Amino acid sequence: MLDDIFFQFCPHEILAIIPFALIHKEDIDKIFEAARVEEVVADYVTLKKRGANLIGCCPFHNEKTPSFYVSPAKGIYKCFGCGKGGHAINFIMEHDKLTYPDALRYLAKKYNIEITEEEQTPEQVQHQNDRESLLVVSSFAQKHFSENLYNTDEGKSIGLGYFKERGLREDIIQKFQLGYSINQRTAFTDIAIATGYKTEYLVKSGLTIEYKNEPETISEESDTEVKPIESKYVDRFWGRVMFPIHNQSGRVIAFGGRTLRTDKKTSKYVNSPETDIYHKSDVLYGLYHSKNAIQKEKFCFLVEGYMDVIAMHQAGVENVVASSGTALTAGQIKLVQRFTNDIIISYDGDQAGINAALKGIDLLLEEGMNVKVLLFPDGDDPDSYSKKVGTQELKDFIVNNAQNFISYKANILTKGTNNDPLKKAEAIKKIVESIALIPDAIYRSVYVKECARIMDVDEQILLSELNKIRNKNFNEKRNQPFQQNETTSIEELVIEEKKENATADAEHQERDIIRLLINYGDKLLSIDSENEAGESMNIDVTLAYLLTHELKQDNIVIENLLYNRIYNEFVEHLEKDSVPDTNYFISHENAAICSLTIDLISSPYTLSNWEQHGIYINREEDMLKKSLYNAIYALKSRKLEMMIHDIQKRLKENPDEEELMTLMQTQNQLNMAKIEFNALLGRIVVK
Ligand code: UTP
Ligand code: MN
Repeated sequence: MLDDIFFQFCPHEILAIIPFALIHKEDIDKIFEAARVEEVVADYVTLKKRGANLIGCCPFHNEKTPSFYVSPAKGIYKCFGCGKGGHAINFIMEHDKLTYPDALRYLAKKYNIEITEEEQTPEQVQHQNDRESLLVVSSFAQKHFSENLYNTDEGKSIGLGYFKERGLREDIIQKFQLGYSINQRTAFTDIAIATGYKTEYLVKSGLTIEYKNEPETISEESDTEVKPIESKYVDRFWGRVMFPIHNQSGRVIAFGGRTLRTDKKTSKYVNSPETDIYHKSDVLYGLYHSKNAIQKEKFCFLVEGYMDVIAMHQAGVENVVASSGTALTAGQIKLVQRFTNDIIISYDGDQAGINAALKGIDLLLEEGMNVKVLLFPDGDDPDSYSKKVGTQELKDFIVNNAQNFISYKANILTKGTNNDPLKKAEAIKKIVESIALIPDAIYRSVYVKECARIMDVDEQILLSELNKIRNKNFNEKRNQPFQQNETTSIEELVIEEKKENATADAEHQERDIIRLLINYGDKLLSIDSENEAGESMNIDVTLAYLLTHELKQDNIVIENLLYNRIYNEFVEHLEKDSVPDTNYFISHENAAICSLTIDLISSPYTLSNWEQHGIYINREEDMLKKSLYNAIYALKSRKLEMMIHDIQKRLKENPDEEELMTLMQTQNQLNMAKIEFNALLGRIVVK
């Protein structure tokens, strides 16, 4: 759940990773103050006035009728089409794919705000410099390899000739900054050293290999054909066409080099090793060039190789990435999840490809992605197929032929088994194992139905098998020794299990409580009270005070982790006699809280009726006390329901006489209380 909210507004998750204290808090505040959301957005979107708000076509998804709102008064934007929303800084992060600090720097520049970046320790500075040096060296290498491709005889005839033979257009070669490394052992390193680059960084970037002792000790990844050489420093890449790998801001961080020789002696691709700027498990080839298309198309197409990505782009399908050279990792999946939860994978039809696909499917399911698999007709891969059809045909082919992972697995696992019942049973088990990985119960049940249909088995049998597997997985996870970074996932598991056992949780009601707190927590309400002399009198208290006071009286705990955090922030502030307001949460340092806030302040009461000039806003503010008590009673009543449900469950478990009596009594009391509550509420709308 937390993850859902987290990734819904994904670019913010950067907040959690990047130590954003580098920019001074006062400067951040100044930027927040200066950056008017309507001005920032207007640099990118044509806005028209509509009542108190502005409206335009959403820059984050394709639309013809505007559903993108900007509220200068609230300082936020919100698209009612795709759901994206946030404040000015979020907008820049989202639109320009910038990190939080970079978005702040951009806006500081726009508004002429001078920012002081916090002093870094010498180690931090050194590390920063090292990384920067590696980026500079990589960029130099990329230019060098491109230069070779266009301006040397060897590059032109061999490198460029090869790309042309593979049907690549000039603009695509340039877009992906393809290049060529000369077929000599030291061509690049020599030039780099002569240009002034330090061997330290050339080696650290992996572009140059340093011989320590004998020639045999050089890395496995390099071409191993040993020619007599004198130099201590040699190139990793030589005589290969070069594919630069970019980070998310488009800077070159590594390379893949493909040999043009057909003999089996050298490996087809040589890749950069892990470096300070290249962590293979957190990089997807092509993501920099595809992220906008992924967002627009609302799904990501995952292929195997560099060439597949490039060919698809050339064919007009740009929402493509490749895991290139490594098995798919959770880190790579997280990158995709910043843009979409829907993924179509297409791996080769050979055994290695099938194994990779099966592993990939499970990992993707586990990360909560919707997975489909695309098979190309006989022997084609994305690269070859994309050259045979037009753009629209290719797009249609992908969408129409992607099959869900169940039919894919079913086909793969029962192929050539001649309907052998034992093999079929095995296949079913393997499919259910995959379904068991899906975190969301509703999706699981949909896939169980699908599996029952495809494999022609009873759904109940699948369900019981599924539960067995999930219990087993759950126990295994629980019995694993605690590791620090695993605590949350275990917590989540426990919470999820709890959720599944109850008929319902109180999430909906808790959310309404948090909505009121964030929107109106600091508003004053007048209540009847008694002074020391016992005389009744009228006093003003804040809504936050009244609400927390009421919930504390009945020991009500907000269970949803995220809501609980927000609630506790109120409690902590109240202890210090202050109440955080909406702006505090809009610019909260926690990304999930920030996104939730945007959602809550653009809820039906406050935002969707913007065009009716805020009639609803006034109405809810006028009736604030009533709204508040409605929300409190709804929550209490739901909690009662949950307790009753719990007792009913225990009653079914054949308790002994004594326990039975107590349970019945408690049940009666709870039922009475519930009736009382419902009467108080008049009418509750419980979802
Ligand atoms: P492929 O062999 O399918 O390569 O490997 P490709 O990109 O389609 O290249 P062409 O079409 O034959 O020219 C898929 C990916 O696996 C990695 C590369 O990232 C490659 O793009 N790979 C493959 C290696 O890292 N090393 C290898 O030796 C082979
Ligand atoms: Mn290929």
